[in-house]
Amino acid sequence: MKYQAVIFDLDGVICFTDKYHYLAWKEMADELGIYFDEKINNRLRGVSRMESLEIILEKYDKALSEEEKFALAEKKNKTYVKLLGKMTKNDLSKEVKETLDTLRESGFQLAIGSSSKNTKFILERLGLDHYFDAISDGTNISRSKPDPEVFLKAAEFLQKKPQQCLVVEDAKAGVIAAGRGGFDSAGLGEAAACREVTYSMNSFSDLLKIVKENQSGM
Ligand code: BG6
Ligand code: MG
Repeated sequence: MKYQAVIFDLDGVICFTDKYHYLAWKEMADELGIYFDEKINNRLRGVSRMESLEIILEKYDKALSEEEKFALAEKKNKTYVKLLGKMTKNDLSKEVKETLDTLRESGFQLAIGSSSKNTKFILERLGLDHYFDAISDGTNISRSKPDPEVFLKAAEFLQKKPQQCLVVEDAKAGVIAAGRGGFDSAGLGEAAACREVTYSMNSFSDLLKIVKENQSGM
């Protein structure tokens, strides 16, 4: 069996919290009169909170101190966490849950590899706390994607080599991070169209086909 474990990005892969990130950043940008749209938002996928803020501030003409930037990121996070609070187990799609369960029953170890510092809270809202064998997130890394640190840590927590793990991503930065760390990747959305991705998927359950093909040596 080529893969023994699957490492999932969280936002935009396991759940659709990317729309809440957008709304929270948009509120902050509107207050400051900064132009912000979905296209700019796509550049924030997989990128840490502070780096996301720097991308948004490219369209701001005033210089801000580190303290001011930190306060803005905090404010955005408050709005974001409020939106996350509305999430329930019903926000976990049947397709995602059934695919995860099938992978688990087939003997794969499952982990999260996310830049988010809100990972544990989100998993709780979805009823997935205690579900994964390992969680590597924004709280245990010092470099964000496209650096491979978050995935290397996840593999280390699982005691697997990168070559034994498949990374699932929706962001280009995540696919690049996987490649740099020596992982194969399966991409959804923007990541599916990425030159560097190992497998392109149309939907989450395509993962089952990918692991099956690699099991039978096809
Ligand atoms: C990633 C998102 O998963 O987490 C990014 O794709 C986000 O858009 C990053 O900036 C950090 O999230 P948080 O929850 O720590 O602000
Ligand atoms: Mg993502």
